[in-house]
Amino acid sequence: MAFINDDIINEIRNNTDIVEVISNYVPLTKKGKNYFGVCPFHDDHSPSMSVDPVKQIYKCFSCGAGGNVFTFVMNYENIEFVQAVKLLGSRLGINISGIKDSSKVNNKEYNAYEIAAKYYQNNIYTSLGKKAIDYLEQRKIDKETIKKFGIGLALKDNKLTSMLIQKGYSINELINLGLANDNNTDFFLNRIIFPIHNLNGKVIAFSGRIYNTSSENKYVNTKETSIFKKGSILYNYHNAKSTLKKNDYIIVMEGFLDVIRASTIGINNCVATLGTAITKEHINLLKKISDNIILCFDGDAAGEKATITCIQMLSEIGISPKIIRLKEDLDPDEYILKYGSSAFESQIKNPLSVTDFNLTILKNGKNLTEIDDIAKYINEVLKALVKEEDLIKVDIILNKLSKEYNITYNSLNEKYQSLLKQNVKVKKEEVKQEIKKEQRPKQHIIACKSLIYYMLKYDEVINMVENRVSYMPDAKYRNLSNEIIYYYHKYGTLKEADFYTHLINNNPKLLETMQEIEILNINEQYSQEAIDDYILAITKANLKEREKNLKNKIDEEVDIMKKAEIANSKFNIKINGGIYDRRN
Ligand code: CTP
Ligand code: MN
Repeated sequence: MAFINDDIINEIRNNTDIVEVISNYVPLTKKGKNYFGVCPFHDDHSPSMSVDPVKQIYKCFSCGAGGNVFTFVMNYENIEFVQAVKLLGSRLGINISGIKDSSKVNNKEYNAYEIAAKYYQNNIYTSLGKKAIDYLEQRKIDKETIKKFGIGLALKDNKLTSMLIQKGYSINELINLGLANDNNTDFFLNRIIFPIHNLNGKVIAFSGRIYNTSSENKYVNTKETSIFKKGSILYNYHNAKSTLKKNDYIIVMEGFLDVIRASTIGINNCVATLGTAITKEHINLLKKISDNIILCFDGDAAGEKATITCIQMLSEIGISPKIIRLKEDLDPDEYILKYGSSAFESQIKNPLSVTDFNLTILKNGKNLTEIDDIAKYINEVLKALVKEEDLIKVDIILNKLSKEYNITYNSLNEKYQSLLKQNVKVKKEEVKQEIKKEQRPKQHIIACKSLIYYMLKYDEVINMVENRVSYMPDAKYRNLSNEIIYYYHKYGTLKEADFYTHLINNNPKLLETMQEIEILNINEQYSQEAIDDYILAITKANLKEREKNLKNKIDEEVDIMKKAEIANSKFNIKINGGIYDRRN
Protein backbone atom coordinates (compact mmCIF):
# COMPACT_ATOMS: atom_id res chain seq x y z
CA MET A 1 0.00 0.00 0.00
CA ALA A 2 1.43 3.31 -1.02
CA PHE A 3 1.56 6.24 1.33
CA ILE A 4 1.10 8.81 -1.38
CA ASN A 5 -2.19 10.59 -1.13
CA ASP A 6 -4.72 9.25 -3.65
CA ASP A 7 -5.48 12.79 -4.84
CA ILE A 8 -1.86 13.35 -5.79
CA ILE A 9 -1.72 10.03 -7.59
CA ASN A 10 -4.85 10.92 -9.55
CA GLU A 11 -3.60 14.40 -10.26
CA ILE A 12 -0.41 12.99 -11.72
CA ARG A 13 -2.24 10.44 -13.82
CA ASN A 14 -4.81 12.92 -15.05
CA ASN A 15 -2.19 15.42 -16.12
CA THR A 16 0.05 12.87 -17.77
CA ASP A 17 -0.59 11.80 -21.32
CA ILE A 18 0.13 8.10 -21.71
CA VAL A 19 0.85 8.52 -25.41
CA GLU A 20 3.51 11.10 -24.64
CA VAL A 21 5.13 8.97 -21.95
CA ILE A 22 5.14 5.72 -23.89
CA SER A 23 6.49 7.40 -27.02
CA ASN A 24 9.52 8.39 -24.98
CA TYR A 25 10.29 4.68 -24.76
CA VAL A 26 8.75 3.23 -27.92
CA PRO A 27 7.96 4.96 -31.23
CA LEU A 28 4.19 5.12 -31.73
CA THR A 29 2.17 5.57 -34.88
CA LYS A 30 -1.43 6.67 -35.01
CA LYS A 31 -3.87 4.32 -36.71
CA GLY A 32 -7.55 5.18 -36.36
CA LYS A 33 -8.25 6.44 -32.88
CA ASN A 34 -5.39 4.54 -31.24
CA TYR A 35 -1.61 4.56 -31.38
CA PHE A 36 0.45 1.45 -32.12
CA GLY A 37 4.00 0.45 -31.30
CA VAL A 38 6.31 -2.52 -30.88
CA CYS A 39 5.60 -4.05 -27.47
CA PRO A 40 8.62 -3.77 -25.16
CA PHE A 41 7.40 -6.56 -22.90
CA HIS A 42 7.97 -9.46 -25.27
CA ASP A 43 10.10 -10.20 -28.30
CA ASP A 44 7.84 -8.29 -30.65
CA HIS A 45 8.59 -7.82 -34.35
CA SER A 46 5.49 -6.01 -35.54
CA PRO A 47 3.60 -3.36 -33.60
CA SER A 48 1.24 -5.36 -31.33
CA MET A 49 0.80 -2.81 -28.57
CA SER A 50 -2.00 -0.32 -28.80
CA VAL A 51 -2.29 2.84 -26.74
CA ASP A 52 -5.68 4.41 -26.24
CA PRO A 53 -5.38 8.19 -25.83
CA VAL A 54 -8.96 8.56 -24.58
CA LYS A 55 -8.99 5.78 -22.00
CA GLN A 56 -5.31 6.38 -21.20
CA ILE A 57 -4.49 2.69 -21.21
CA TYR A 58 -2.28 0.40 -23.31
CA LYS A 59 -2.57 -3.25 -24.19
CA CYS A 60 -0.57 -5.74 -26.17
CA PHE A 61 -2.65 -8.17 -28.20
CA SER A 62 0.23 -10.55 -28.51
CA CYS A 63 1.59 -11.01 -24.98
CA GLY A 64 -1.35 -9.63 -23.04
CA ALA A 65 0.59 -6.91 -21.23
CA GLY A 66 -1.60 -3.97 -20.37
CA GLY A 67 -2.31 -1.24 -17.88
CA ASN A 68 -2.08 2.48 -17.33
CA VAL A 69 0.83 4.88 -17.44
CA PHE A 70 2.05 3.76 -14.00
CA THR A 71 2.19 0.06 -14.86
CA PHE A 72 3.98 0.88 -18.10
CA VAL A 73 6.73 2.80 -16.35
CA MET A 74 6.91 0.25 -13.52
CA ASN A 75 7.38 -2.65 -15.91
CA TYR A 76 9.63 -0.87 -18.36
CA GLU A 77 11.93 0.64 -15.76
CA ASN A 78 11.59 -2.33 -13.42
CA ILE A 79 10.60 -0.06 -10.53
CA GLU A 80 7.96 -0.02 -7.82
CA PHE A 81 4.68 1.86 -7.97
CA VAL A 82 5.84 4.65 -5.67
CA GLN A 83 8.96 5.21 -7.73
CA ALA A 84 6.87 5.33 -10.90
CA VAL A 85 4.58 7.92 -9.32
CA LYS A 86 7.59 9.97 -8.26
CA LEU A 87 9.11 9.75 -11.70
CA LEU A 88 5.95 10.83 -13.50
CA GLY A 89 5.29 13.45 -10.81
CA SER A 90 8.68 15.02 -11.30
CA ARG A 91 7.93 15.38 -15.02
CA LEU A 92 5.01 17.60 -14.04
CA GLY A 93 6.96 19.40 -11.37
CA ILE A 94 4.74 17.87 -8.69
CA ASN A 95 6.74 17.61 -5.52
CA ILE A 96 6.29 14.32 -3.73
CA SER A 97 9.56 14.20 -1.87
CA GLY A 98 9.46 12.81 1.60
CA ILE A 99 6.95 10.20 0.53
CA LYS A 100 7.61 6.80 1.95
CA ASP A 101 8.11 3.87 -0.37
CA SER A 102 5.63 1.03 -0.22
CA SER A 103 8.53 -1.22 0.71
CA LYS A 104 8.52 0.50 4.09
CA VAL A 105 5.33 -1.29 5.06
CA ASN A 106 7.25 -3.87 7.03
CA ASN A 107 9.43 -1.14 8.38
CA LYS A 108 10.03 -2.69 11.74
CA GLU A 109 11.05 -6.05 10.32
CA TYR A 110 13.40 -4.51 7.77
CA ASN A 111 14.87 -2.21 10.40
CA ALA A 112 15.73 -5.14 12.64
CA TYR A 113 17.59 -6.74 9.75
CA GLU A 114 19.34 -3.50 8.90
CA ILE A 115 20.52 -3.15 12.48
CA ALA A 116 21.59 -6.78 12.60
CA ALA A 117 23.47 -6.57 9.32
CA LYS A 118 25.37 -3.49 10.49
CA TYR A 119 26.11 -5.15 13.81
CA TYR A 120 27.53 -8.27 12.16
CA GLN A 121 29.58 -6.27 9.68
CA ASN A 122 31.00 -4.26 12.48
CA ASN A 123 32.08 -7.38 14.36
CA ILE A 124 34.19 -8.70 11.55
CA TYR A 125 36.46 -5.67 11.65
CA THR A 126 37.10 -5.92 15.41
CA SER A 127 39.88 -7.96 16.96
CA LEU A 128 37.37 -10.77 17.49
CA GLY A 129 36.90 -10.93 13.74
CA LYS A 130 40.49 -11.68 12.92
CA LYS A 131 40.01 -15.42 12.51
CA ALA A 132 36.98 -14.87 10.28
CA ILE A 133 38.92 -12.46 8.07
CA ASP A 134 41.76 -14.97 7.93
CA TYR A 135 39.32 -17.68 6.88
CA LEU A 136 37.84 -15.50 4.16
CA GLU A 137 41.26 -14.41 2.94
CA GLN A 138 42.40 -17.98 2.80
CA ARG A 139 39.35 -18.57 0.59
CA LYS A 140 40.51 -15.59 -1.51
CA ILE A 141 37.72 -13.29 -0.46
CA ASP A 142 39.35 -9.92 0.10
CA LYS A 143 38.22 -6.92 2.16
CA GLU A 144 36.67 -5.21 -0.82
CA THR A 145 34.45 -8.22 -1.50
CA ILE A 146 33.58 -8.54 2.19
CA LYS A 147 32.35 -5.00 2.05
CA LYS A 148 30.58 -5.30 -1.29
CA PHE A 149 28.49 -8.27 -0.13
CA GLY A 150 28.09 -7.03 3.43
CA ILE A 151 29.70 -10.13 4.90
CA GLY A 152 29.76 -10.07 8.71
CA LEU A 153 30.35 -12.12 11.79
CA ALA A 154 28.14 -13.46 14.56
CA LEU A 155 30.09 -13.71 17.80
CA LYS A 156 29.63 -16.16 20.64
CA ASP A 157 27.64 -13.70 22.77
CA ASN A 158 23.99 -12.72 22.64
CA LYS A 159 24.46 -9.01 22.13
CA LEU A 160 22.24 -8.66 19.09
CA THR A 161 19.17 -9.88 20.94
CA SER A 162 19.72 -7.57 23.89
CA MET A 163 20.50 -4.67 21.59
CA LEU A 164 17.29 -5.14 19.62
CA ILE A 165 15.26 -5.55 22.81
CA GLN A 166 16.69 -2.24 24.00
CA LYS A 167 15.55 -0.71 20.74
CA GLY A 168 11.97 -1.74 21.45
CA TYR A 169 11.65 -5.19 19.91
CA SER A 170 9.94 -7.87 21.97
CA ILE A 171 11.57 -11.26 22.26
CA ASN A 172 8.61 -12.75 20.42
CA GLU A 173 9.11 -10.41 17.51
CA LEU A 174 12.77 -11.38 17.34
CA ILE A 175 11.94 -15.08 17.48
CA ASN A 176 9.40 -14.65 14.68
CA LEU A 177 11.99 -12.78 12.67
CA GLY A 178 14.48 -15.61 13.11
CA LEU A 179 16.99 -13.45 14.94
CA ALA A 180 16.66 -14.85 18.47
CA ASN A 181 15.89 -18.11 20.25
CA ASP A 182 13.20 -18.36 22.93
CA ASN A 183 15.76 -18.35 25.76
CA ASN A 184 16.80 -14.82 24.78
CA THR A 185 19.90 -15.97 22.95
CA ASP A 186 21.02 -14.92 19.47
CA PHE A 187 19.99 -17.27 16.69
CA PHE A 188 23.30 -16.97 14.86
CA LEU A 189 26.36 -17.72 16.97
CA ASN A 190 29.97 -17.98 15.96
CA ARG A 191 29.38 -17.98 12.22
CA ILE A 192 30.37 -15.87 9.25
CA ILE A 193 27.23 -14.08 8.18
CA PHE A 194 26.15 -13.60 4.59
CA PRO A 195 23.20 -11.22 4.28
CA ILE A 196 20.45 -12.17 1.85
CA HIS A 197 18.63 -9.27 0.20
CA ASN A 198 15.18 -9.02 -1.25
CA LEU A 199 14.55 -7.93 -4.82
CA ASN A 200 14.87 -4.28 -3.81
CA GLY A 201 18.14 -4.74 -1.99
CA LYS A 202 16.87 -4.82 1.59
CA VAL A 203 18.38 -7.40 3.96
CA ILE A 204 15.71 -9.96 4.83
CA ALA A 205 17.68 -12.99 6.03
CA PHE A 206 21.11 -14.34 6.80
CA SER A 207 23.06 -17.44 6.04
CA GLY A 208 25.72 -18.29 8.61
CA ARG A 209 28.74 -20.42 7.73
CA ILE A 210 30.97 -22.19 10.23
CA TYR A 211 34.61 -21.21 9.93
CA ASN A 212 36.46 -22.32 13.03
CA THR A 213 34.87 -25.65 13.94
CA SER A 214 33.80 -28.56 11.82
CA SER A 215 31.28 -30.43 13.88
CA GLU A 216 28.09 -28.54 13.07
CA ASN A 217 26.06 -27.93 9.90
CA LYS A 218 28.07 -26.03 7.32
CA TYR A 219 25.33 -23.48 6.82
CA VAL A 220 22.48 -22.30 9.04
CA ASN A 221 19.88 -20.09 7.41
CA THR A 222 17.15 -17.81 8.67
CA LYS A 223 13.88 -19.71 8.74
CA GLU A 224 11.03 -18.57 6.53
CA THR A 225 9.50 -15.42 8.01
CA SER A 226 6.96 -12.79 7.05
CA ILE A 227 9.62 -11.08 4.93
CA PHE A 228 11.73 -14.05 3.80
CA LYS A 229 10.55 -16.85 1.54
CA LYS A 230 13.52 -18.73 0.14
CA GLY A 231 11.68 -19.81 -3.00
CA SER A 232 10.73 -16.23 -3.88
CA ILE A 233 14.14 -14.62 -3.98
CA LEU A 234 17.34 -15.01 -5.89
CA TYR A 235 20.61 -14.10 -4.21
CA ASN A 236 22.18 -10.95 -5.72
CA TYR A 237 19.11 -10.24 -7.87
CA HIS A 238 19.04 -6.54 -6.96
CA ASN A 239 22.66 -6.06 -8.05
CA ALA A 240 22.37 -8.16 -11.18
CA LYS A 241 19.19 -6.35 -12.17
CA SER A 242 20.88 -2.98 -12.07
CA THR A 243 24.00 -4.04 -13.96
CA LEU A 244 22.13 -5.97 -16.63
CA LYS A 245 21.47 -4.24 -19.92
CA LYS A 246 18.81 -5.43 -22.34
CA ASN A 247 19.71 -8.83 -23.87
CA ASP A 248 22.60 -9.37 -21.48
CA TYR A 249 23.00 -12.85 -20.08
CA ILE A 250 21.99 -13.63 -16.55
CA ILE A 251 23.93 -16.51 -15.02
CA VAL A 252 22.17 -18.75 -12.51
CA MET A 253 24.23 -20.53 -9.87
CA GLU A 254 23.49 -22.59 -6.77
CA GLY A 255 25.39 -20.94 -3.97
CA PHE A 256 26.01 -17.40 -2.85
CA LEU A 257 29.75 -18.10 -2.66
CA ASP A 258 29.70 -18.92 -6.35
CA VAL A 259 28.11 -15.55 -7.08
CA ILE A 260 30.59 -13.80 -4.81
CA ARG A 261 33.52 -15.58 -6.45
CA ALA A 262 32.31 -14.61 -9.93
CA SER A 263 32.12 -11.01 -8.80
CA THR A 264 35.78 -11.10 -7.73
CA ILE A 265 36.71 -11.73 -11.36
CA GLY A 266 34.45 -8.97 -12.62
CA ILE A 267 31.41 -11.08 -13.53
CA ASN A 268 28.49 -9.34 -11.86
CA ASN A 269 25.49 -10.70 -13.72
CA CYS A 270 25.06 -13.78 -11.52
CA VAL A 271 22.29 -14.82 -9.16
CA ALA A 272 21.95 -17.87 -6.92
CA THR A 273 18.97 -20.06 -6.13
CA LEU A 274 20.49 -20.91 -2.73
CA GLY A 275 20.35 -24.63 -3.29
CA THR A 276 18.83 -26.86 -5.94
CA ALA A 277 15.15 -26.34 -5.09
CA ILE A 278 14.12 -24.23 -8.06
CA THR A 279 10.67 -22.68 -7.97
CA LYS A 280 8.31 -21.17 -10.50
CA GLU A 281 8.87 -17.84 -8.82
CA HIS A 282 12.60 -18.09 -9.51
CA ILE A 283 11.82 -18.73 -13.15
CA ASN A 284 9.50 -15.73 -13.34
CA LEU A 285 12.07 -13.49 -11.68
CA LEU A 286 14.66 -14.54 -14.21
CA LYS A 287 12.33 -13.93 -17.13
CA LYS A 288 11.61 -10.49 -15.78
CA ILE A 289 15.20 -9.36 -16.24
CA SER A 290 16.29 -11.39 -19.24
CA ASP A 291 15.34 -14.09 -21.70
CA ASN A 292 19.02 -14.89 -22.09
CA ILE A 293 19.84 -17.26 -19.30
CA ILE A 294 22.92 -19.36 -18.62
CA LEU A 295 22.52 -22.16 -16.10
CA CYS A 296 25.73 -22.78 -14.22
CA PHE A 297 24.92 -25.12 -11.37
CA ASP A 298 27.45 -27.26 -9.54
CA GLY A 299 29.22 -29.88 -11.61
CA ASP A 300 27.92 -32.74 -9.48
CA ALA A 301 24.89 -34.99 -9.96
CA ALA A 302 22.61 -32.70 -7.93
CA GLY A 303 23.65 -29.80 -10.14
CA GLU A 304 22.87 -31.84 -13.24
CA LYS A 305 19.45 -32.72 -11.87
CA ALA A 306 18.76 -29.06 -11.10
CA THR A 307 19.84 -28.16 -14.63
CA ILE A 308 17.37 -30.65 -16.13
CA THR A 309 14.52 -29.35 -13.96
CA CYS A 310 15.36 -25.76 -14.75
CA ILE A 311 15.52 -26.38 -18.52
CA GLN A 312 12.10 -28.00 -18.29
CA MET A 313 10.59 -25.11 -16.31
CA LEU A 314 12.10 -22.50 -18.62
CA SER A 315 10.90 -24.33 -21.72
CA GLU A 316 7.37 -24.10 -20.36
CA ILE A 317 7.58 -20.32 -20.67
CA GLY A 318 9.30 -20.47 -24.03
CA ILE A 319 12.87 -19.88 -22.93
CA SER A 320 15.71 -22.07 -24.11
CA PRO A 321 18.67 -21.43 -21.81
CA LYS A 322 22.37 -22.00 -22.36
CA ILE A 323 24.16 -24.38 -20.06
CA ILE A 324 27.57 -24.66 -18.45
CA ARG A 325 28.58 -27.99 -16.94
CA LEU A 326 31.73 -27.80 -14.85
CA LYS A 327 34.08 -30.75 -14.79
CA GLU A 328 35.22 -32.78 -11.78
CA ASP A 329 32.01 -32.06 -9.85
CA LEU A 330 33.31 -28.54 -9.19
CA ASP A 331 31.11 -25.61 -8.27
CA PRO A 332 31.80 -22.24 -9.96
CA ASP A 333 33.72 -21.04 -6.90
CA GLU A 334 36.04 -24.05 -6.93
CA TYR A 335 36.35 -24.01 -10.71
CA ILE A 336 37.43 -20.39 -10.84
CA LEU A 337 39.93 -20.91 -8.04
CA LYS A 338 41.35 -24.04 -9.66
CA TYR A 339 41.38 -23.07 -13.35
CA GLY A 340 41.41 -19.29 -13.22
CA SER A 341 39.20 -16.54 -14.48
CA SER A 342 39.94 -16.90 -18.17
CA ALA A 343 38.96 -20.58 -18.12
CA PHE A 344 35.62 -19.63 -16.59
CA GLU A 345 35.14 -16.74 -19.00
CA SER A 346 35.64 -19.08 -21.91
CA GLN A 347 32.95 -21.35 -20.44
CA ILE A 348 30.60 -18.37 -20.46
CA LYS A 349 31.51 -17.54 -24.03
CA ASN A 350 30.93 -21.13 -25.20
CA PRO A 351 28.01 -22.52 -23.24
CA LEU A 352 26.12 -25.62 -24.34
CA SER A 353 22.78 -25.40 -26.09
CA VAL A 354 19.92 -27.46 -24.69
CA THR A 355 20.55 -30.05 -27.43
CA ASP A 356 24.27 -30.23 -26.62
CA PHE A 357 23.41 -30.71 -22.98
CA ASN A 358 20.80 -33.37 -23.70
CA LEU A 359 23.31 -35.27 -25.80
CA THR A 360 25.85 -35.32 -22.99
CA ILE A 361 23.41 -36.53 -20.37
CA LEU A 362 22.12 -39.27 -22.63
CA LYS A 363 25.48 -40.97 -22.15
CA ASN A 364 24.87 -41.26 -18.40
CA GLY A 365 24.68 -44.82 -17.12
CA LYS A 366 25.51 -46.35 -20.49
CA ASN A 367 28.47 -48.45 -21.43
CA LEU A 368 29.21 -47.16 -24.92
CA THR A 369 31.32 -50.14 -25.84
CA GLU A 370 28.31 -52.43 -25.66
CA ILE A 371 26.11 -52.80 -28.69
CA ASP A 372 22.80 -52.60 -26.81
CA ASP A 373 23.82 -49.41 -25.03
CA ILE A 374 25.13 -47.84 -28.22
CA ALA A 375 21.86 -48.56 -30.02
CA LYS A 376 19.88 -47.18 -27.12
CA TYR A 377 22.09 -44.10 -27.00
CA ILE A 378 21.79 -43.41 -30.72
CA ASN A 379 18.03 -43.80 -30.69
CA GLU A 380 17.76 -41.37 -27.79
CA VAL A 381 20.05 -38.90 -29.54
CA LEU A 382 17.96 -39.03 -32.69
CA LYS A 383 14.83 -38.39 -30.66
CA ALA A 384 16.47 -35.39 -29.00
CA LEU A 385 17.63 -34.08 -32.39
CA VAL A 386 14.06 -33.89 -33.58
CA LYS A 387 13.64 -30.90 -31.28
CA GLU A 388 16.73 -29.10 -32.57
CA GLU A 389 15.83 -26.28 -34.94
CA ASP A 390 19.31 -25.68 -36.32
CA LEU A 391 19.52 -28.17 -39.20
CA ILE A 392 23.21 -27.60 -39.76
CA LYS A 393 23.81 -28.66 -36.22
CA VAL A 394 21.69 -31.75 -36.77
CA ASP A 395 23.80 -32.63 -39.78
CA ILE A 396 27.04 -32.15 -37.88
CA ILE A 397 25.83 -34.40 -35.10
CA LEU A 398 24.63 -37.10 -37.50
CA ASN A 399 28.02 -37.04 -39.19
CA LYS A 400 29.78 -37.27 -35.88
CA LEU A 401 27.67 -40.20 -34.73
CA SER A 402 28.25 -41.92 -38.05
CA LYS A 403 32.03 -41.70 -37.66
CA GLU A 404 32.13 -42.41 -33.96
CA TYR A 405 29.97 -45.52 -34.02
CA ASN A 406 30.62 -46.70 -37.54
CA ILE A 407 27.06 -46.44 -38.81
CA THR A 408 26.26 -45.14 -42.27
CA TYR A 409 25.14 -41.53 -42.37
CA ASN A 410 22.19 -42.54 -44.53
CA SER A 411 20.71 -44.98 -42.09
CA LEU A 412 21.01 -42.43 -39.29
CA ASN A 413 19.43 -39.76 -41.43
CA GLU A 414 16.62 -42.08 -42.49
CA LYS A 415 15.71 -42.82 -38.91
CA TYR A 416 15.97 -39.12 -38.03
CA GLN A 417 13.68 -38.17 -40.91
CA SER A 418 11.07 -40.72 -39.92
CA LEU A 419 11.13 -39.51 -36.30
CA LEU A 420 10.80 -35.98 -37.59
CA LYS A 421 7.70 -36.91 -39.57
CA GLN A 422 6.17 -38.61 -36.56
CA ASN A 423 6.88 -35.56 -34.48
CA VAL A 424 5.25 -33.24 -36.99
CA LYS A 425 2.19 -35.49 -36.93
CA VAL A 426 2.03 -35.42 -33.14
CA LYS A 427 2.44 -31.65 -33.16
CA LYS A 428 -0.33 -31.19 -35.71
CA GLU A 429 -2.56 -33.38 -33.60
CA GLU A 430 -1.72 -31.28 -30.55
CA VAL A 431 -2.53 -28.08 -32.38
CA LYS A 432 -5.84 -29.60 -33.51
CA GLN A 433 -6.68 -30.53 -29.94
CA GLU A 434 -5.77 -27.05 -28.78
CA ILE A 435 -7.99 -25.47 -31.39
CA LYS A 436 -10.80 -27.83 -30.45
CA LYS A 437 -10.41 -26.86 -26.83
CA GLU A 438 -10.30 -23.20 -27.72
CA GLN A 439 -13.37 -23.53 -29.89
CA ARG A 440 -15.39 -24.81 -26.99
CA PRO A 441 -14.58 -22.61 -24.03
CA LYS A 442 -17.26 -22.82 -21.38
CA GLN A 443 -20.18 -20.48 -21.94
CA HIS A 444 -20.20 -19.15 -18.41
CA ILE A 445 -16.49 -18.29 -18.57
CA ILE A 446 -17.07 -16.30 -21.75
CA ALA A 447 -20.01 -14.69 -20.00
CA CYS A 448 -17.94 -13.67 -16.95
CA LYS A 449 -15.16 -12.26 -19.08
CA SER A 450 -17.47 -10.36 -21.39
CA LEU A 451 -19.53 -8.90 -18.56
CA ILE A 452 -16.38 -7.65 -16.85
CA TYR A 453 -15.17 -6.25 -20.15
CA TYR A 454 -18.29 -4.10 -20.34
CA MET A 455 -18.30 -3.33 -16.60
CA LEU A 456 -14.91 -1.72 -17.12
CA LYS A 457 -16.29 0.44 -19.88
CA TYR A 458 -19.85 1.24 -18.88
CA ASP A 459 -20.93 2.12 -15.35
CA GLU A 460 -24.49 1.02 -16.08
CA VAL A 461 -23.28 -2.53 -16.75
CA ILE A 462 -21.79 -2.56 -13.25
CA ASN A 463 -25.29 -1.87 -11.96
CA MET A 464 -26.78 -4.64 -14.06
CA VAL A 465 -24.26 -7.18 -12.83
CA GLU A 466 -24.64 -6.09 -9.24
CA ASN A 467 -28.41 -6.39 -9.39
CA ARG A 468 -28.79 -9.50 -11.48
CA VAL A 469 -25.76 -11.74 -10.99
CA SER A 470 -25.64 -13.34 -7.56
CA TYR A 471 -22.01 -14.38 -8.05
CA MET A 472 -19.62 -15.24 -10.82
CA PRO A 473 -18.83 -18.97 -10.83
CA ASP A 474 -15.08 -18.67 -11.39
CA ALA A 475 -13.05 -17.28 -8.48
CA LYS A 476 -10.75 -14.97 -10.38
CA TYR A 477 -13.57 -13.33 -12.31
CA ARG A 478 -15.69 -13.19 -9.17
CA ASN A 479 -12.92 -11.38 -7.33
CA LEU A 480 -12.37 -8.91 -10.12
CA SER A 481 -16.06 -8.20 -10.55
CA ASN A 482 -16.45 -7.70 -6.78
CA GLU A 483 -13.51 -5.32 -6.81
CA ILE A 484 -15.09 -3.36 -9.66
CA ILE A 485 -18.37 -3.08 -7.75
CA TYR A 486 -16.56 -2.04 -4.60
CA TYR A 487 -14.59 0.59 -6.49
CA TYR A 488 -17.66 1.90 -8.25
CA HIS A 489 -19.49 2.41 -4.96
CA LYS A 490 -16.52 4.08 -3.39
CA TYR A 491 -15.83 6.57 -6.19
CA GLY A 492 -19.22 6.78 -7.93
CA THR A 493 -17.73 6.04 -11.35
CA LEU A 494 -15.04 3.88 -12.87
CA LYS A 495 -12.33 4.87 -15.30
CA GLU A 496 -10.18 1.98 -16.45
CA ALA A 497 -6.94 3.89 -16.09
CA ASP A 498 -7.70 4.83 -12.48
CA PHE A 499 -8.94 1.35 -11.71
CA TYR A 500 -5.53 0.03 -12.77
CA THR A 501 -3.94 2.29 -10.16
CA HIS A 502 -6.38 0.97 -7.58
CA LEU A 503 -5.47 -2.65 -8.38
CA ILE A 504 -1.73 -2.00 -8.27
CA ASN A 505 -2.13 -0.71 -4.73
CA ASN A 506 -4.88 -2.89 -3.36
CA ASN A 507 -5.09 -6.11 -5.30
CA PRO A 508 -2.19 -6.60 -7.70
CA LYS A 509 -3.06 -10.27 -8.09
CA LEU A 510 -6.08 -9.22 -10.14
CA LEU A 511 -3.99 -7.27 -12.67
CA GLU A 512 -3.37 -10.38 -14.72
CA THR A 513 -7.08 -11.18 -14.96
CA MET A 514 -7.74 -7.57 -15.88
CA GLN A 515 -5.17 -7.78 -18.69
CA GLU A 516 -6.67 -11.03 -19.91
CA ILE A 517 -10.05 -9.35 -20.21
CA GLU A 518 -8.77 -6.16 -21.81
CA ILE A 519 -7.55 -8.06 -24.85
CA LEU A 520 -10.89 -9.80 -25.46
CA ASN A 521 -11.81 -9.43 -29.07
CA ILE A 522 -15.46 -8.37 -28.76
CA ASN A 523 -17.55 -5.40 -29.76
CA GLU A 524 -16.67 -2.28 -27.84
CA GLN A 525 -20.38 -1.41 -27.73
CA TYR A 526 -22.59 -3.74 -25.78
CA SER A 527 -26.13 -4.78 -26.66
CA GLN A 528 -28.69 -5.39 -23.95
CA GLU A 529 -29.49 -8.73 -25.55
CA ALA A 530 -25.89 -9.90 -25.21
CA ILE A 531 -25.76 -8.80 -21.56
CA ASP A 532 -28.98 -10.72 -20.86
CA ASP A 533 -27.50 -13.83 -22.50
CA TYR A 534 -24.33 -13.58 -20.43
CA ILE A 535 -26.29 -13.20 -17.22
CA LEU A 536 -28.45 -16.19 -18.12
CA ALA A 537 -25.38 -18.33 -18.85
CA ILE A 538 -23.96 -17.48 -15.44
CA THR A 539 -27.25 -18.14 -13.63
CA LYS A 540 -27.49 -21.52 -15.34
CA ALA A 541 -23.93 -22.43 -14.43
CA ASN A 542 -24.54 -21.49 -10.80
CA LEU A 543 -27.72 -23.57 -10.64
CA LYS A 544 -26.01 -26.54 -12.21
CA GLU A 545 -23.26 -26.27 -9.66
CA ARG A 546 -25.77 -26.15 -6.81
CA GLU A 547 -27.59 -29.13 -8.24
CA LYS A 548 -24.36 -31.06 -8.47
CA ASN A 549 -23.56 -30.26 -4.86
CA LEU A 550 -27.00 -31.38 -3.74
CA LYS A 551 -26.66 -34.60 -5.71
CA ASN A 552 -23.43 -35.33 -3.90
CA LYS A 553 -25.16 -34.60 -0.61
CA ILE A 554 -27.99 -36.98 -1.48
CA ASP A 555 -25.47 -39.70 -2.31
CA GLU A 556 -23.66 -39.17 0.97
CA GLU A 557 -26.75 -38.83 3.16
CA VAL A 558 -27.78 -42.06 4.94
CA ASP A 559 -30.97 -40.80 6.59
CA ILE A 560 -33.76 -41.53 4.11
CA MET A 561 -35.95 -38.61 5.27
CA LYS A 562 -33.14 -36.13 4.87
CA LYS A 563 -32.32 -37.60 1.50
CA ALA A 564 -35.87 -36.88 0.35
CA GLU A 565 -35.69 -33.36 1.72
CA ILE A 566 -32.54 -32.59 -0.23
CA ALA A 567 -33.97 -34.23 -3.33
CA ASN A 568 -36.95 -31.96 -3.04
CA SER A 569 -34.88 -28.81 -2.90
CA LYS A 570 -32.86 -30.09 -5.85
CA PHE A 571 -36.09 -30.52 -7.78
CA ASN A 572 -37.12 -26.99 -6.87
CA ILE A 573 -33.93 -25.64 -8.30
CA LYS A 574 -34.75 -27.28 -11.60
CA ILE A 575 -38.25 -25.90 -11.73
CA ASN A 576 -37.55 -22.43 -10.47
CA GLY A 577 -34.21 -22.08 -12.11
CA GLY A 578 -35.87 -22.35 -15.49
CA ILE A 579 -33.41 -24.88 -16.70
CA TYR A 580 -35.80 -27.77 -16.38
CA ASP A 581 -36.26 -29.15 -19.86
CA ARG A 582 -39.69 -30.74 -20.12
CA ARG A 583 -38.66 -32.98 -22.95
CA ASN A 584 -36.55 -34.97 -20.48
N1 CTP B 1 22.68 -24.33 1.36
C1 CTP B 1 21.84 -24.14 2.42
N2 CTP B 1 21.90 -24.93 3.52
C2 CTP B 1 22.82 -25.92 3.60
C3 CTP B 1 23.68 -26.13 2.53
C4 CTP B 1 23.59 -25.32 1.42
O1 CTP B 1 21.02 -23.25 2.38
N3 CTP B 1 22.87 -26.66 4.68
C5 CTP B 1 22.55 -23.43 0.22
C6 CTP B 1 23.44 -22.26 0.43
O2 CTP B 1 22.75 -21.11 0.04
C7 CTP B 1 24.60 -22.49 -0.49
C8 CTP B 1 24.01 -23.36 -1.57
O3 CTP B 1 22.96 -24.06 -0.97
O4 CTP B 1 25.07 -21.28 -0.98
C9 CTP B 1 24.98 -24.33 -2.19
O5 CTP B 1 25.44 -25.23 -1.18
P1 CTP B 1 26.86 -25.86 -1.22
O6 CTP B 1 27.23 -26.21 -2.62
O7 CTP B 1 26.93 -26.91 -0.19
O8 CTP B 1 27.73 -24.66 -0.68
P2 CTP B 1 28.96 -23.93 -1.29
O9 CTP B 1 28.51 -22.80 -2.10
O10 CTP B 1 29.88 -24.89 -1.97
O11 CTP B 1 29.64 -23.36 0.03
P3 CTP B 1 31.13 -23.53 0.52
O12 CTP B 1 31.95 -23.25 -0.66
O13 CTP B 1 31.25 -22.54 1.62
O14 CTP B 1 31.27 -24.91 1.01
MN1 MN C 1 31.80 -24.33 -2.59
